[in-house]
Amino acid sequence: MGWRICKYIQHLFYRKHREGHGIHSPYLFEFVNQVVFNGGGVDIPAPILSAHRELRKERGIIPAAGGNNPTGGNNPRGAGSKVDSKETRTIQSFVRSSSVSLDQGALLFRTAHWLNPDMILELGTGLGVSTLYLAGGVGETSDREPDSFQVHTIEGDPVRADFSRQLFKRFGLNGVKVHCGDVDRMVEELAGKLPGRFLAFVDANHRYEPTLRYLRLLINSAGEEAVIIMDDIYWSKGMYRAWKEVISWPGVRVSIDLFHMGILLLRRDLQKTHLKIKI
Ligand SMILES: C[S@@+](CC[C@H](N)C(=O)[O-])C[C@H]1O[C@@H](n2cnc3c(N)ncnc32)[C@H](O)[C@@H]1O
Repeated sequence: MGWRICKYIQHLFYRKHREGHGIHSPYLFEFVNQVVFNGGGVDIPAPILSAHRELRKERGIIPAAGGNNPTGGNNPRGAGSKVDSKETRTIQSFVRSSSVSLDQGALLFRTAHWLNPDMILELGTGLGVSTLYLAGGVGETSDREPDSFQVHTIEGDPVRADFSRQLFKRFGLNGVKVHCGDVDRMVEELAGKLPGRFLAFVDANHRYEPTLRYLRLLINSAGEEAVIIMDDIYWSKGMYRAWKEVISWPGVRVSIDLFHMGILLLRRDLQKTHLKIKI
């Protein structure tokens, strides 16, 4: 915890590249200006915001799934929650501590809106909050038909997977495919089918080795137009080590460290660049 606070204080001193200043690549300038700093003033649809706010107050219980779900409850393959390690949690507790915040959700929405990907792959659905922003961002994009893009999200805990399915149904997001199973296995199946324009959100197993393995697979399988977002890059020393290693790979052209999340851009015509941005 002390280490994380130190890193956060260090991060606060970085105020470079405000709204894209000092960035020479037009592609990167546009990404930083439009997506990171919301230069275009993209609004998040009110129904997504109000559903997220409601879930943050919802006192209903999410029971533990039991069995051998691969999520960090009983099984060491997941890293679990630092905030609430009890097996049974309230929705409120899960959403406040394990789901994206409103600002992070907005960033996911804007990324999906800007990239307009043919496929989104999320590792770690949780209760489906981040998926709402990701899928909502593409759905909101101009005249895209619902079945012209795919959204896949993987969750190991069957109770959470079911909860998220109900949430997506409520939003008419019938095309979102919730795969209930171990990311280790499912990500290999899905990585063989990645289209050129692809967006990934990696938010499942917060450990060094699996995180690197998932990212290696995605980066090697993705086309140049891919954007990969990694959550919680300072969650632990292991996650930070994974982030530092990933950004050194030749396939990663640009990395953007936002503290709570890291963004990877793969376009080969971009100069190798590492940005640290405080938003
Ligand atoms: C941080 S939560 C995801 C939160 C969600 N992305 C959001 O922001 O709303 C991580 C989820 O990943 C799941 N998970 C962790 N390790 C997993 C694994 N190996 N296979 C499948 N799911 C896993 C956990 O059950 C948990 O629900």
